[in-house]
Amino acid sequence: MVGAVQFGILVACVVLFVPMGMAGWHLSRNKMLFFSGALFITLAVGVHLTPYIPSVSVFLSSISSLSSPDSQESCLSFLNDIVWEEHERGPNSSRRSWNWDRSSPVAACGFQRLGRADACDLLNGSWIVVAGDSQARLFVLSLLKLVLDSAEMEGVQRDLFKRHSDYRMVDEEHGMKLDFIWAPYESNLTDLLLGFRAARRYPDVLVMGTGMWHMLHVNNASDYGRLLRTVKTSLLSLLPNMAEFSSDWPFAGSVSSLPQPSHMFWLGMPTLVNSKLNTEEKREKMSQSMCEAYLRELDESQLLRQRGGGPLLLLDIGSLSSNCGEQCTEDGMHYDEAVYEAGIHIMLNALLIVSHQHV
Ligand SMILES: *[C@@H]1O[C@H](CO)[C@@H](O)[C@H](O)[C@H]1NC(C)=O
Ligand SMILES: *[C@@H]1O[C@H](CO)[C@@H](O)[C@H](O)[C@H]1NC(C)=O
Ligand SMILES: *[C@@H]1O[C@H](CO)[C@@H](O)[C@H](O)[C@H]1NC(C)=O
Ligand SMILES: *[C@@H]1O[C@H](CO)[C@@H](O)[C@H](O)[C@H]1NC(C)=O
Repeated sequence: MVGAVQFGILVACVVLFVPMGMAGWHLSRNKMLFFSGALFITLAVGVHLTPYIPSVSVFLSSISSLSSPDSQESCLSFLNDIVWEEHERGPNSSRRSWNWDRSSPVAACGFQRLGRADACDLLNGSWIVVAGDSQARLFVLSLLKLVLDSAEMEGVQRDLFKRHSDYRMVDEEHGMKLDFIWAPYESNLTDLLLGFRAARRYPDVLVMGTGMWHMLHVNNASDYGRLLRTVKTSLLSLLPNMAEFSSDWPFAGSVSSLPQPSHMFWLGMPTLVNSKLNTEEKREKMSQSMCEAYLRELDESQLLRQRGGGPLLLLDIGSLSSNCGEQCTEDGMHYDEAVYEAGIHIMLNALLIVSHQHV
């Protein structure tokens, strides 16, 4: 939008001033009128054709997306616009792959999958904390798969999948420190946040997400909402302090210079496939209507930037998993790697946007 307006103004200036400049060169008035008319027609035709030439309109809107804070905000809101494609592999199995929606406003944001080198550059020197349940663990696994090579991954996978435990990795080579905190309940997240505050040490990137344990063991949506508001309160009490975060971490990180609070994320709950859940208790308590009630509470807690201007950017595992489809999950709850991988790239692109970096 902004690009088109700016382009229009540019065109008007060209039409007006080029012939005036020519007049200064002693062109006759008739020649000048002719030249002005011809220029006007050319540019008008050009402007009207622009929308039909995708590369030009993408170019124009990408200029505007780089320059205006509004478009930066709108690109943040398009981050979760992922589409899935089917790839047949053999008679029974099929694999789905993802990409950002290639249609107009989303494509203009220029989102991209980061390769290992770019991801390491971006995260170099950063302290990343991911806290939550098994979804958060799968998310960490995807992140490590991106930044580590396969030999390094083997050891990691063993440690990371010790059930219900924390995991810490300091990767000197890539200059990155990663903590996975086993925090299946909302109160665990609040405790974690208070811990940062007490220690006066704050991560550069924070990813949190809970809900399924509460749904299974407490099964009370309004109580979930109450707890989320507590999480939000402790998060907000942290924010003024976060400017000084992680100054004791030795590397000069690229992410650490970001303005707060843009690099805090909420890892959304996956879309549950009730018929595939593996216990009767789960099938009963984690019903469609209960899931919807929990999502409503999340919205109403105003924890999310996308829904009510909260502090956390949503990594929408809910829509990613639902669009990937039922075939992407065995147990109706944990999804194929591709879903979490998409979540990682959404997060990295968000970090790129807020740090105004372009790989
Ligand atoms: C494909 O499905 C058939 C029948 O469902 C099964 O017998 C066969 O083992 C499957 N093949 C593979 C490669 O999974
Ligand atoms: C990370 O940053 C440090 C210091 O700026 C640099 O020495 C190191 O090579 C970087 N590592 C990577 C993988 O970019
Ligand atoms: C998480 O919170 C629950 C419920 O408040 C508590 O029982 C549990 O010990 C906590 N777990 C951790 C790892 O702090
Ligand atoms: C659900 O949680 C709310 C808020 O914590 C509480 O007031 C209410 O009594 C709970 N409902 C049930 C059925 O336990």
